[in-house]
Amino acid sequence: MSSPEGKNTVLELLNKSAQYLAAKGSHSPRLDAEVLLAEVLGCTRIQLYVGFDKGLSRSEVDSYREAVMRRGRREPVAYITGRKEFMGRDFTVARGVLVPRPETELLAERAIEALSGLDGADAAEICCGTGATGITVALDAPVTRMLLSDISDDALAVALDNVRRHGLEGKVEVLKGDLFAALPEDLKGELDLVMANPPYIRSDEIEALEPEVSKHEPRVALDGGSDGLGFYRRIAPEAALWLKPGGVMLMEVGCDQAAEVSGMLASSGFGRVASHKDLQGYDRVVEATL
Ligand SMILES: C[S@@+](CC[C@H](N)C(=O)[O-])C[C@H]1O[C@@H](n2cnc3c(N)ncnc32)[C@H](O)[C@@H]1O
Repeated sequence: MSSPEGKNTVLELLNKSAQYLAAKGSHSPRLDAEVLLAEVLGCTRIQLYVGFDKGLSRSEVDSYREAVMRRGRREPVAYITGRKEFMGRDFTVARGVLVPRPETELLAERAIEALSGLDGADAAEICCGTGATGITVALDAPVTRMLLSDISDDALAVALDNVRRHGLEGKVEVLKGDLFAALPEDLKGELDLVMANPPYIRSDEIEALEPEVSKHEPRVALDGGSDGLGFYRRIAPEAALWLKPGGVMLMEVGCDQAAEVSGMLASSGFGRVASHKDLQGYDRVVEATL
């Protein structure tokens, strides 16, 4: 079906693309089709609905076809659009860096809560990826200085882009290194907050994940070692060295890892240790106070 001018209409393209993406195994084919078309046309999804009969130009159709083909290969939508919303703000995303997940908003929310009431706070997010969590906390909590660190150059480039995008140069620094090795020594014992969402998937479980993850997201962001807990074993005792007394450690964990990670924090010298549930009811964030 075409519009009177012989062009493909919005509705026709959406229907065909949603059908194609469903056949390719997308769990949200219609939504994907709409998000990608809105991106190509530079409009909102609502605007698509009020312009179903609108015809597209040849180049718009070509761009859309290319985007839908990529999605058909199960590439995450965020890699195709180059952005992802996190707690109501847009963040740059690119291949080579993990797409921020909705459940990670809980990590940011708990950090904001932990810092509320302070006059100013020095904080760090290790394993920062896009930096969405640390940047959100720097924007919404009384943070004086936020250090973001990661080992991946791809992640660091995206994090730096996001720091600039949100106007936080001067308050948020982006550092390269292996976990805490990136942080300046003079901050040892001085931080009010450390947070991390490290890789936590068991190595032998990665292949069985959805192709969006297993084929497209970087292994360095996923692989938590043979039992998935390798990073927590390193982070828990080291975090105790970087926090000041009363400082807070927050970590996102896999849905069956909270008890073990809580135990690691307790035996690393943390006092109060608690976990927080995500919207699906999983213990998703472990919080510990030094
Ligand atoms: C699960 S991703 C989380 C990214 C981001 N915090 C988020 O929630 O979207 C884990 C991150 O840890 C980083 N990473 C892996 N090994 C690391 C290491 N040894 N030191 C620092 N960062 C590391 C990866 O590059 C990746 O960006």
